[in-house]
Amino acid sequence: MDVLTDRGRPGANQNRGVVTPEPPVLMRIGGGLGRRVRLFWARLRFPRARFGAACDVRSGLRLRLGPGASADFGPRCVLDNDLTIECTGRLEVGARTIFGHHCTLAACESVDIGEDCLIAEMVSIRDHDHCFDRLDVPTRDQGAAVAPVRIGRNVWLGTKVTVTKGVCIGDNAVVGANAVVTRDIPANAVAVGIPARVVRMREEA
Ligand SMILES: CC(C)(COP(=O)(O)OP(=O)(O)OC[C@H]1O[C@@H](n2cnc3c(N)ncnc32)[C@H](O)[C@@H]1OP(=O)(O)O)[C@@H](O)C(=O)NCCC(=O)NCCS
Repeated sequence: MDVLTDRGRPGANQNRGVVTPEPPVLMRIGGGLGRRVRLFWARLRFPRARFGAACDVRSGLRLRLGPGASADFGPRCVLDNDLTIECTGRLEVGARTIFGHHCTLAACESVDIGEDCLIAEMVSIRDHDHCFDRLDVPTRDQGAAVAPVRIGRNVWLGTKVTVTKGVCIGDNAVVGANAVVTRDIPANAVAVGIPARVVRMREEA
């Protein structure tokens, strides 16, 4: 008997767990060429940023680099559509890290992201807040409170995660969708919620 799925179609979940086959050779060549053209174009548009070999820089990248600022992506990073980068300090991203679409990275002082991270779509990572101590001055005119952000290697941030200033997320950590990370998360932890709290530790399989 066919299994009924959520969609009510018989057999629609037969592909679960099946690895998608490699795309045909011509598509792979076309894809590789497209990636190279996009990388060439990104380097041309943003000569002060550094994109490592074989980075895949997709459309809609907005990158504002202040005087003396730097943005450095290691080899084979993927920057999906509509990534926004505002940098007056230092942004460093390790090799093979992937950003989903519509992420925001803002570094007044420094944001470090390790190798092999998976940053899902609509994630926001900022190393500063507006100061708001005074009531007689508009918030926008009170300057910024800044503290560096460090994200280790092989970290997975779920969709719409927000990482606030001064936070350190350890290697191999997982942060669940929609979490707001306001305090450090240790290596190998799984953290969820607002504010993000550790719910369990990852262990060797
Ligand atoms: C966190 C996550 C990875 C699950 O990890 P897990 O260790 O398997 O956690 P569990 O499902 O066992 O849940 C542990 C607890 O956290 C809660 N929880 C899980 N994800 C949560 C989330 N995003 N926000 C709030 N609570 C969450 C569960 O309800 C459970 O609570 P309980 O113990 O009171 O029942 C997953 O829920 C998640 O958020 N994935 C992100 C998906 C995504 O954004 N994908 C983008 C593609 S890259």
